[in-house]
Amino acid sequence: MARQKSSFVCSECGLESHSWYGKCPSCAHWNTLEEIEIPRENKKAHTLNERFTPKASKLCEIDFDIEIRNDTGLCELDRVLGGGVVDGSVILLSGDPGIGKSTLLLQVCSFFCKNNTVLYAAGEESPKQIKLRAERLGIPGDNLYVAADTDIENILGHAARLRPGIVMVDSIQTMHFSQLTSSSGSVTQVRECTQLLMRMAKENDVPVFVVGHVNKDGGIAGPKVLEHMVDVVLYFEGERLSSYRILRAVKNRFGSTNEIGMFEMGDTGLSDVENPSLTLLSGRPSGVSGTCVACVMEGTRPILAEVQALAGKTGFGTPRRMATGFDLNRATLIIAVLEKRCGYFFGNLDTYINIIGGLKLDEPASDLPVALALISNLLDKPVDENVAAFGEIGLAGEIRSVMHAQQRVNECARLGFTKLILPEHSAKGVISVPGVMLYPVKNLSQAIDSLLR
Ligand code: TYD
Ligand code: MG
Repeated sequence: MARQKSSFVCSECGLESHSWYGKCPSCAHWNTLEEIEIPRENKKAHTLNERFTPKASKLCEIDFDIEIRNDTGLCELDRVLGGGVVDGSVILLSGDPGIGKSTLLLQVCSFFCKNNTVLYAAGEESPKQIKLRAERLGIPGDNLYVAADTDIENILGHAARLRPGIVMVDSIQTMHFSQLTSSSGSVTQVRECTQLLMRMAKENDVPVFVVGHVNKDGGIAGPKVLEHMVDVVLYFEGERLSSYRILRAVKNRFGSTNEIGMFEMGDTGLSDVENPSLTLLSGRPSGVSGTCVACVMEGTRPILAEVQALAGKTGFGTPRRMATGFDLNRATLIIAVLEKRCGYFFGNLDTYINIIGGLKLDEPASDLPVALALISNLLDKPVDENVAAFGEIGLAGEIRSVMHAQQRVNECARLGFTKLILPEHSAKGVISVPGVMLYPVKNLSQAIDSLLR
């Protein structure tokens, strides 16, 4: 019997190779190449024969319907998806264990149940466990079908029979395709199962949510190609001890990837947090040095977040630099600019930066509040609690303009901030809002002066 052809795929970067290497030639990770089998079915599809005559269509002749979006019952999820879930799309939901992925999906099911049949493929939990959770969430479950099965062909069979309005697969790592000999969760299995689900979604115009596990580095476990295959990749994040959860899109074929959604996990499941700024600022200390409020844009929405910084004498030769929720390289750069351009020295100080609420500030506009929080703690001088700031810091110590200044000013006004430190350029086009005093600044020294005044 001819040996089945095989190939090797790197689980980190997706590199395909005909031979095995201990170290991936592309991403240099060790022991990440896994053998994959090419299933017989696929081999047939790849060979050209008389019956298979490929045909490309003219763009102008392609029929299209405006993409149909469905509400999911959770406004924050709709926002992250770009205005609801699109028919025929495959959405990969990933996140740490116990963060609430299954809860989120069950809540989406409960909304879809009202008008549609819903199929929930549970590879991790028993129907009893799901029933218990549904009871807790108050889901009647009339139209909700639970398939405690891990065979992907059975799941597709259920879908063909039930014609559901939405399919949930929890999780892709537990699914297996019987034509492959490798175990569930392997690169081959995950890839093939996703491919089959993709085909089912596109052919029947049904949205499919797929849960994916994360590896120890926080990335999605399994092949990188998984992320390329699906239409939307969502990450569900949050601190274990906090009840707040943040949902962000890292890929979205139907919308922007900048939007974030905020949820609160309570006794009856997840609920939308409609006013994230207010939530993130609750419990803010007053009269303490080392905190400053940042105004950043998360997609189309301005959000206010508290930046905390601590500069303490180091016990070692080299000072420690730590940042949570903020890029460490960016923090080092800000410290360098503060030293060189403004004359504040951190050479013998450990510095810690923390963004409250598990938020990740990756917009350059958060540079200025980080610098102000550091200086405030260094000088032990609290920033007025009515002050908010935004602006990008350049290497020359200049404060560079950022977009959407007006929306940021309006958000600060809405939350009762009276002083706003912003880049001079951005302030030019801003229509002033009653109650908010603008402090346009050209460079970092001016910003620090306006703070200490
Ligand atoms: P779960 O959805 O099982 O997480 P995942 O599928 O991501 O592993 O969430 C489980 C956690 O959520 C568990 O720690 C309990 C908590 N939880 C609540 O706090 N309230 C609720 O109403 C529910 C259903 C779960
Ligand atoms: Mg789960």
